[in-house]
Amino acid sequence: MDRRSFIKTCTTIAVASMVDAKVFSEVLAQQKDSMFQAYKRALLIKEDGSPLKESDLKPHETYIFFYPHVATPCYLLNLNEEIPAQDISLKDGKSYKWPGGVGSKKSIVAYSAICAHQWSYPTKGYSFINYYPPDKPSDTTKKAGIIQCCAHLALYDPKKGASVIDGPAEAPLATIVLQEEKDGFYAIGVLGKDQFSQFFETYRADLRQQYGSTAKAKEPVDKCTVMEVEKYVKEVIRC
Ligand code: FES
Repeated sequence: MDRRSFIKTCTTIAVASMVDAKVFSEVLAQQKDSMFQAYKRALLIKEDGSPLKESDLKPHETYIFFYPHVATPCYLLNLNEEIPAQDISLKDGKSYKWPGGVGSKKSIVAYSAICAHQWSYPTKGYSFINYYPPDKPSDTTKKAGIIQCCAHLALYDPKKGASVIDGPAEAPLATIVLQEEKDGFYAIGVLGKDQFSQFFETYRADLRQQYGSTAKAKEPVDKCTVMEVEKYVKEVIRC
């Protein structure tokens, strides 16, 4: 990273984390290939508006929220075991340090729910991309504890930074970086290869219809309402 990029990264992270020294240094340490993008800091809240607590997250339930834009969906999972940090390598040679889970057990992870293959995503009508808990394996691949996209069978490992296990995706799902504070969890940015520009381009007409304009669909969020995916998506399609 050159000096100008380094300073820019420092500035954006400092703004995002409100100069929380621990988060600042941890996230900064991951900046090998500029794979972290800071966005507006957003508190995760429940549907009643109160801050989401760790105890609100049932193990292996899929929760949905939208970040960093009002139209970009993410999944939040409590995997019920410690998920350690690890190095993620991409096919283009870039790599980044994935921070692992957050919470008292370090079991909580969050990912963009936009498939890294061809951007299938959970809509209000249906979702092809879903988490399969350990006790509910996929009928097709027989795998469990994975995120699987039924559009073309991309499989991702939520315990390993949503790395690709199998299928056509070229990159992991982007990670939503979470920061735990006294009053709850904040989303502070996106780590890895995000798919936002392709997503907004591919679904321009749909998003305009739903949000009124592309600009409105791209608006940054400052609070993220978290809910069970079945409350948002009418038909969760498993395969
Ligand atoms: S869009 Fe998800 S596997 Fe192709």
